[in-house]
Amino acid sequence: MTTKISRRSFFNRSLGLGAGALLIKTFPTFGFSKKVTIPMIVTSHTNQTGHNAMETGWEILLNGGSAIDAVEKAANIIEIDPEDASVGYGGIPNEHGVVQLDASIMDGKTYNAGSVACLENIKIPSSVARIVMERTDHVMLVGQGALDFAKKWGFREENLLTEKARKIWLRWKEGLSDRDDWGPPEHLKDKEDLESYWEGFPETEHHYGTTNVLAIDQNGDVAGITTTSGLGFKIPGRVGDSPIIGAGLYVDNEVGAAGATGRGEDVIKSCATFYIVMRMKEGRTPQEACEDALIMIVDKYKKVNPDFFPSEKFVAINKYGEFGCARMKGRGKPRMSVMNDKGYSKHEGTIAPQE
Ligand code: GLY
Repeated sequence: MTTKISRRSFFNRSLGLGAGALLIKTFPTFGFSKKVTIPMIVTSHTNQTGHNAMETGWEILLNGGSAIDAVEKAANIIEIDPEDASVGYGGIPNEHGVVQLDASIMDGKTYNAGSVACLENIKIPSSVARIVMERTDHVMLVGQGALDFAKKWGFREENLLTEKARKIWLRWKEGLSDRDDWGPPEHLKDKEDLESYWEGFPETEHHYGTTNVLAIDQNGDVAGITTTSGLGFKIPGRVGDSPIIGAGLYVDNEVGAAGATGRGEDVIKSCATFYIVMRMKEGRTPQEACEDALIMIVDKYKKVNPDFFPSEKFVAINKYGEFGCARMKGRGKPRMSVMNDKGYSKHEGTIAPQE
């Protein structure tokens, strides 16, 4: 059940998450013993593809594989799903009808990170980000440079624009203005006729789905990925929060990891996932730390823009295998998928107050 809570209790509550234990360990950062449920993998996606991704990542973790392998292979499952209009192949394109992808990866064990932005024609941008991380001295490659790099590493160029995404884009394009040279034609000016012409291709406003995959392996190492096709119909070249370390994704092996979805501009300006991980370092649970970040964003932006209507959802895990998620009010229920020794489950987090 989704819980709506007051601002005070939003700060003060503590959810009893992550029950059940495989290990008991003491982590120097925290300085006290605590039950630990690892390995574990989570994602912000809660559809069947998200579930499949969790199964794939879990298999790797259970066989002693690394968190970085688990998050990459799990994220790839979501990226190649043609039905998913928010990530990888099948993503909603930019205003020119071109799919441009952003992704980041961070490995807590090596404290290394890699990312790509505005990457075209490659279905699995998080794997390119991993190669940037592991095989270069850079953190971020963008646009044509990222594509050239991916091709040198053997990634195959493919058209990422599915028929569904192309038609959603065409519908948006035709409906954009009656002062340009695009349709709809006279015989479809009636709303009902237009609706039936575009049946199956919903009218879409700016759309900003994304996915986060975070994991902790049997050695206690933490890793994460955030991957997206970004804001639908964006200005070509626009980069969101997903490939920016500390905004769309942050991992600290001594603490845990956090990922963001929602409109990236606000997440970039607030360095939100870095903030969440730092809050966990100070002793907040993942659930509380996600809530703290939402409060921080609302506090800042409401002061300068009372009409601000933010969209963020955050997910986080800590070294103990605890997890949490929270989202801004008015954007639906905050949910995440979790796979641990208890199997697969969907967790419902909390909704932030807006004043
Ligand atoms: N969070 C995805 C984006 O804004 O691009």
